[in-house]
Amino acid sequence: MIHKTNSDILEMDKIERLNLINSCTGYKSANLLGSVSPDGVTNVAVFSSVTHLGSNPPLLGFVLRPTTVPRNTFDNIKKTGEFTVNHIHSGMIADAHHTSAKYPGHVSEFDKTNLKSKFRDGFKAPYVEGAKIQLGCRYVNEYAIEENGCLLIIGSIEHIYFENDLQLTDGFLALEKADTVTVNGLDGYALPKLIDRFEYARPE
Ligand SMILES: Cc1cc2nc3c(=O)[nH]c(=O)nc-3n(C[C@H](O)[C@H](O)[C@H](O)COP(=O)(O)O)c2cc1C
Repeated sequence: MIHKTNSDILEMDKIERLNLINSCTGYKSANLLGSVSPDGVTNVAVFSSVTHLGSNPPLLGFVLRPTTVPRNTFDNIKKTGEFTVNHIHSGMIADAHHTSAKYPGHVSEFDKTNLKSKFRDGFKAPYVEGAKIQLGCRYVNEYAIEENGCLLIIGSIEHIYFENDLQLTDGFLALEKADTVTVNGLDGYALPKLIDRFEYARPE
């Protein structure tokens, strides 16, 4: 096997390190975070760090890169207290990826892509029209990751919307039916295939 040590990694060319370290921890979730500024400018951006934190209460988290440059999604979340999480499906990956471009805060990525905003049920933050699984979240807290200047943002899941045929009788959402993609590295989008499901594992 090829072997890279921590010092090899630190000495690598920046792009090679980015690609290697972003892929080596495995497949990541692929979501569009929707938010809005207090003066009504909508924002949508791709995030691959959204993860389940707990079911009761229903919590998720995502990692925000250092706030040494403007972070529109984060600013909006702090000011309005709301954001949406929208699963990226295979038909929207090019537009979803483009939302990572650094547009200034007064420009909405909804105007720069074919993605369309959708407002519902009095929630301030926009959902992404056509996303087959959509969550409405409330900002709860943030924790500094002192080692690299990132923040772990905690959100409470207040609303879940999903298309009719996606949920199995035990609650499970069949992400394969939703065409939900996964992120490989920093710029690769893939469609996973469910192999099997198992009973709750017990020692014997
Ligand atoms: C595949 C992919 C995944 C990303 N995941 C994250 C992430 O988890 N956290 C983050 O802070 N930025 C992430 N980014 C970068 C943001 O999309 C980018 O900084 C974007 O401009 C943020 O927009 P905003 O300033 O409007 O919030 C990711 C970019 C790509 C292409």
